[in-house]
Amino acid sequence: MNEILENVVLADSVNRYLVAAPKIAARRKAGQFVIVRIDEFGERIPLTIADADPEQGTITLVVQAVGKSTAQMATLKPGDRLLDVVGPLGAPTHIERVGTVAVVAGGIGIAPAHPVAQAFKQAGNTVIAILGARSKNLLIMEDEMRRAADEVIVCTDDGSYGCPGLVTHVLNDLIDTRGKPDQVFAVGPVPMMKYVSLLTREYGIPTMVSLNPIMMDGTGMCGGCRVTIGGHTKFACVEGPDFDGHLVDFDELMQRQAFYKEQERVAYERYVQRCRSQEHIAQANQSL
Ligand SMILES: Cc1cc2nc3c(=O)[nH]c(=O)nc-3n(C[C@H](O)[C@H](O)[C@H](O)COP(=O)(O)OP(=O)(O)OC[C@H]3O[C@@H](n4cnc5c(N)ncnc54)[C@H](O)[C@@H]3O)c2cc1C
Ligand code: FES
Repeated sequence: MNEILENVVLADSVNRYLVAAPKIAARRKAGQFVIVRIDEFGERIPLTIADADPEQGTITLVVQAVGKSTAQMATLKPGDRLLDVVGPLGAPTHIERVGTVAVVAGGIGIAPAHPVAQAFKQAGNTVIAILGARSKNLLIMEDEMRRAADEVIVCTDDGSYGCPGLVTHVLNDLIDTRGKPDQVFAVGPVPMMKYVSLLTREYGIPTMVSLNPIMMDGTGMCGGCRVTIGGHTKFACVEGPDFDGHLVDFDELMQRQAFYKEQERVAYERYVQRCRSQEHIAQANQSL
């Protein structure tokens, strides 16, 4: 059991959780994740460790509510306990001193980008973070990224904050005006990582991406997370989640992510119905 110490709303449908997990906090490295179960009926939710404090024995998770399990997690309060938090899982991000690293992050991808930006900076690189969100109210962790990186460029799809446009436009401008970064690390929605990788391939910039396929056991046993990298099958939970962006079959990843859409929709609808009827019973009891 792992206690939730804080649950703070960061943006529409995005919450930041501080969770007691001393052993994970002591061992985790940038790029690693945990698998959380809320209760004994809950599915396993893979979540990147956005930050950790080994002295306090805590890890930070930043979670977007996109379906049943993440919506249920958003209802938890400080003092509530998660049934289990397993980790740290996955291979840490390969960090070395290369010169200038552009960390490109979109949407909830800013949370996993944060420890990676910190680690590249600690290794002596100049880190330029390019953060994208659909709109200003969906942008998260700007202050944390400003502390982690040497420079932060924000853009929004609707132009409500920072430069108007997509992270790929900002990256393209950066390359044209200031020259190629030595490495790019991209994390966010799969189409975003795909187009960043297509762009950097044109310029021959080494590019790592952090993939988020469906995961179940997180130990390399079930095959749920398989992805195709340079024509070879890899299990993202143990051999990733980071891979060479120029070798990833992004279209297959998108297809596989949508595999359980119908079951996910039904699970979410059932969950919302259950919440509504519980609310109804509570209101009826109050009026007695
Ligand atoms: C290594 C890794 C790190 C991740 N880190 C974060 C993070 O830091 N913050 C965050 O908000 N999200 C993160 N995710 C995504 C998160 O795990 C899913 O959003 C979550 O499992 C959705 O569950 P749900 O029941 O709420 O939604 P569902 O309705 O079940 O699913 C909504 C969508 O989420 C994806 N998804 C569903 N189940 C899984 C699963 N078991 N594994 C992976 N994806 C799934 C699918 O694309 C699906 O279409 C990460 C995923 C991976 C693989
Ligand atoms: S999640 Fe089962 S093999 Fe990766």
